[in-house]
Amino acid sequence: MIRTLTGIQPSGALHIGNYFGAMRPAIDAQAKGECFYFIADYHSMTSLLDPAQRRRNTLDVALDWLACGLDPQRSVFWRQSDVPGVTELSWIVGTLTPMGLLERATSYKDKVAKGISPNFGLFAYPVLMASDILLFDTNVVPVGRDQKQHVEMTRDIAVKFNQTYGETFVVPEPQIRDDIAVVPGLDGQKMSKSYGNTIDIFGEEKTVRKKIMGIVMDSRTPQEPKPDADKNLAIHLLRLVAPPGVAADFENRLRAGGLGYGDLKKALFEHYWNYFAAARARRAEFAANMDHVSRVLADGAARARAVADVVLQRARKASGLE
Ligand code: TRP
Repeated sequence: MIRTLTGIQPSGALHIGNYFGAMRPAIDAQAKGECFYFIADYHSMTSLLDPAQRRRNTLDVALDWLACGLDPQRSVFWRQSDVPGVTELSWIVGTLTPMGLLERATSYKDKVAKGISPNFGLFAYPVLMASDILLFDTNVVPVGRDQKQHVEMTRDIAVKFNQTYGETFVVPEPQIRDDIAVVPGLDGQKMSKSYGNTIDIFGEEKTVRKKIMGIVMDSRTPQEPKPDADKNLAIHLLRLVAPPGVAADFENRLRAGGLGYGDLKKALFEHYWNYFAAARARRAEFAANMDHVSRVLADGAARARAVADVVLQRARKASGLE
C-alpha cells in the first residue's frame, strides 16, 4: 500500500495556487492509497507569532480541506502539534543533518533575502519537515515545486540515518504535477500569498470579481489578432477552472481577434465561481458545525499517533535511546 503524506501551512485563506499545486493531487490520491494529511501548526511558528490567529488559521485550513474533498473516513487528518512526538524525531534526525545541507535550502535563503530575520526554527524548518515525513513511513509527498528540495533533503536525511543506525526509515519520493504545479498569480508571477497576487479558493464574490477584472493586460484593441494568446494569463487560469474545450475556445477567439480582455476576464470569473460552488456550500455546512470539525481532528490525531508511536519507537531503538 502506497502511503501519501502532505502538510499544509495554516497561513490564512488558501488560494487556487495551493489548490491546484498541492490540494487537488492530495485529494485525488485518496482514491489510490493511504493518505496522511496534517496542518503544520508547528511550522507556522517560524513566521506567525499571534496565537489567536494561529488557532483561527488552523481551523480555517481544516474547513478548506474538508470542503475541498478531504474525506476523514478515508484519510488520516490531524493537527501537527497533536502528535508532539514529531519534535522528538526532529531532534534525532537533526543531529544527522549537515549544516551545509540546511545552508543550501533555497526556501530559507529566499525568506532571509526577503528580510525575514531568521530564527533557529526557520533554519531547522526542513528538519521538522523531514520528521513529519519520516514519522509516518511515507512513500510519496505531493508538494509544490518550491518544496521539492525539502523532500530531497528528507531523502538525504533518511538515507544517512539508515546508514548510521540501520534500516529504519522509508525513503520518500516527491510528487510534482508538472502540468500545473506552479499557478500564475494575478501579476503573472507564481501565485503566492507573499506576492499579494492570489485568488482565494473561498474569496468573497465581490472581492474576487474585482481582482480578476483588475488583471492588467496590454493595450491592444479587441479586434487585433493575438498570436501570443497561449501566453495570456487569463487563458492560463481559465485552463484550470474551465472545461478543456472552453479554455481552448477562448484561446482561439483571442488569437483570431474579436475577443476583448474584459469579456475574457468575465468568463474567467464565472468559471472560477462555478468551479468552487459545491465546495463553497460544503464549507458553509462545516463552518456551522465546528464541534464536528474538532472531533474530526481529534480522531485523526489519535490515528496518526498510533502510527507515529511505532516509528518513533523504532528510531529510538535503532539510535540507542533505549
Ligand atoms: N513546508 C510545506 C509548505 O510550506 C508544509 C509542510 C510541512 C509539509 N511539513 C510537510 C509538506 C511535510 C509536505 C510534507 O507547503
